[in-house]
Amino acid sequence: MAHDKDDYMIKVDALTKRYDKTVAVNDISFEVPKGQIVGFLGPNGAGKTTTMRILTCFMPPTEGSASVAGFDVLQSPMEVKKRIGYLPENPPVYPEMEVEEYLSFVGRLKGISSADLPARVSEVAERCAVADVRKKLISKLSKGYRQRVGLAQAIIHNPDVLILDEPTAGLDPKQIHETRDLIRSLAGVHTIILSTHILPEVEQTCDHVVIISRGKVVAKDSVQNLTSRLRGQEAVAVEVAGGTAAAIQQRLEQLAGVARVVPRENRHEAHTFEVESLPGQNVRAALAKTVVEAGWDLHELRPVALSLEEVFLELTASEQKEGVQ
Ligand SMILES: Nc1ncnc2c1ncn2[C@@H]1O[C@H](COP(=O)(O)OP(=O)(O)OP(=O)(O)O)[C@@H](O)[C@H]1O
Ligand SMILES: [Mg+2]
Repeated sequence: MAHDKDDYMIKVDALTKRYDKTVAVNDISFEVPKGQIVGFLGPNGAGKTTTMRILTCFMPPTEGSASVAGFDVLQSPMEVKKRIGYLPENPPVYPEMEVEEYLSFVGRLKGISSADLPARVSEVAERCAVADVRKKLISKLSKGYRQRVGLAQAIIHNPDVLILDEPTAGLDPKQIHETRDLIRSLAGVHTIILSTHILPEVEQTCDHVVIISRGKVVAKDSVQNLTSRLRGQEAVAVEVAGGTAAAIQQRLEQLAGVARVVPRENRHEAHTFEVESLPGQNVRAALAKTVVEAGWDLHELRPVALSLEEVFLELTASEQKEGVQ
């Protein structure tokens, strides 16, 4: 079968979804290689959930195609569903069921044999850290625990692919941290696509990112590449000792070609700044020269990637300027 040879676990090709007049997803294409964890990043209404629903065979595309493990969502929905674990935006949990009961119920629905079911339920309960509440009613669980139960049900049949729609939405910071760790620990074995409109989530959890805005893919790359590639100019971090922070900052700001100087952490006697240059300007040599001429010590001068947050703002802003609907 094609899926054995296919390097991509998820392939979305020229996908479009229209609801009446709304174009929710507008000709998007992206691929996710096996074992990778990809962030599907976009503001509200960007088309994230719509794309995920198509990938999980919940609804058909208007145009284009999508496949999972080489199986097309329209032609082989059963094969696709077998290979997918889905955590929807609002997980369908059954409040009156106990955790273990619910996981067994989902496991049976996913075709796990009665002989294998108890071991499998224990395994995912362990994995998702819900073993200690397995006899509790779902209605009595905190939101964080409920989310972990949602993840446990998504992986119960050991699917190749996990599709997680805003897996940390509504959680408190501690729960977010734990859920991210859990998701990271699932990558490799599973190929994961998770949607979010929270930028640090992508930076902290994902290898790659697909940015979607108003139904269009506006960028896709590794998190690392994207942050440095998408701006005209790299920012440079400089660490300087021998002067006051204020004096150093002022001097750097006066340099031709410098757009902005942002103070970063101070270590011992040294001060670190992030210096952003104007597009097309390379200010590294001039920076070094200025520091030395002022009689200060230059401890370090290195390029830094722009934070994804700024990239994201840039991308969505230019989309709006172009008037894409
Ligand atoms: N069932 C529907 N009928 C009509 N329009 C819909 C339907 N579902 C979504 N839409 C519209 O499609 C667009 C994309 O919605 P979608 O839910 O995919 O976005 P999203 O990126 O998941 O947003 P959010 O971050 O708010 O969850 C929006 O304009 C939305 O209003
Ligand atoms: Mg959504």
